[in-house]
Amino acid sequence: MADTKVYRASTTAPVNIAVVKYWGKRDAKLNLPTNSSLSVTLSQADLRTLTTASCSTTFNDDVLLLNGEPSDLTGARTQACLRELRTRREALESKDASLPKLSAMRLLLVSENNFPTAAGLASSAAGFAALVRAIADLYELPSSPTELSLIARQGSGSACRSLFGGYVAWQMGSQADGLDSRAVEVAPASHWPEMRALILVASAAKKGVSSTSGMQQTVATSGLFQQRIADVVPRNMQSMQDAVAARDFPAFAEVTMRESNSFHATCADTYPPIFYMNDVSRAAVRAVEAINAAAGKTVAAYTFDAGPNAVIYYLEESRDLVLGAFYPLLEKLEGWKDGAKGLKSEVQFDEAVASA
Ligand code: DP6
Repeated sequence: MADTKVYRASTTAPVNIAVVKYWGKRDAKLNLPTNSSLSVTLSQADLRTLTTASCSTTFNDDVLLLNGEPSDLTGARTQACLRELRTRREALESKDASLPKLSAMRLLLVSENNFPTAAGLASSAAGFAALVRAIADLYELPSSPTELSLIARQGSGSACRSLFGGYVAWQMGSQADGLDSRAVEVAPASHWPEMRALILVASAAKKGVSSTSGMQQTVATSGLFQQRIADVVPRNMQSMQDAVAARDFPAFAEVTMRESNSFHATCADTYPPIFYMNDVSRAAVRAVEAINAAAGKTVAAYTFDAGPNAVIYYLEESRDLVLGAFYPLLEKLEGWKDGAKGLKSEVQFDEAVASA
C-alpha cells in the first residue's frame, strides 16, 4: 500500500541581536561574510519563531505559511537551504533502505512569530534558524547546531547565530566553499545570567533598505568599510570575547556601542548614504549617555541594527535605573506614543537553544 502518512516535526528558534555586527558579504551566493560577528540570543519566552515542518506523498508543492499567510519559498536562498537538507536526508536514505523516502516528498512549513513580524526585529534570523532546524528534525539528521548553522547561514547570515543560546560567534572562515563559516557558542546564557535587554520599537514600519542590499552597497562604495573589516572588527571581536569571559559590563557596553556607531558610520559613508537610525533612535543614544553619566559608570549600552529600533543592554542590578530613565522618555517621545509603535519588551536571556 502507498505510504500516505504525514511526517511532522516542530521546533522553535530565538531572535539574536548582534553586539559585533555582520555587515558585508564576500560571496553573495554562499552568503559568506566579510567579517566575523558576535551576538546575544534573546529569551524564547519573549521572542521566537515556532515552525512545524511536515511532508507527505499527498502534498503537491512545497508550501510556507508565515503567520497564516502563504509566503515565497522560491527565493535562491530558501531553495539553497531546502536543497542542502534534502541532500543530507537522501544520503541517509541511500545507506538505509528501510527509511521512508522523505527527501522525495513535498514539504509544508508552518511558521509563527510570537512578536510582530513588521516590528523590525531580526525576524529572518529566527525564521531561517527555525526552518532549518524543523526540517533537520523531520529528516532525523544527526547534525549539531554548528553543522545546521552552515545551512541556516545560506538562508540569512544572522540566522546561523540563532541555532545557539547565550553568546554566539559567527566565525567568518577563510575557505571558498564556506565550510568554515559557521556559528559557535562563546558562552552559555548561564555564564552571565544578570544580562537583560530592553527593546524599544521606534518604528514598526518595514525597513527602507534591506540588510542584503544595504550591505552590498556599502561593500561597493564605502572607504570606511575597508578600515572597519581590516582593523575595527577584528579588535572588537577580541575585546568582546574578553568582556564576556570576564563578565565585564563596562567593557561589553563600550564595545557594543562603538560597534553600533561604527556600523552606522559605514552606512552613512555608503554612496548614496543609508540612514537606519532616526530622531527617536538618536534620543535613545542620548538617554543612555545620560543614564551612564548620572550613574557615574557604564550601566547601559545601546545597539541598532538595520532599522531605527533600539536594543538597550543592562544588568539586573541596574534595572530600576535604566527602566526608570526610559519610561518617562517613552511617554514623551512622538515615536513611542501609540500602542503599535510603543512595544516595549524587557527580555531576559536563557539557554535558548532551538529545541524540539
Ligand atoms: C545589521 O542576516 O539580515 O542585523 O545575510 O543578507 O540575510 P542577510 O543579512 P542579515 O543581516 C543582519 C545585519 C545586522 C547585523 C547582524 O545581525 O549581525
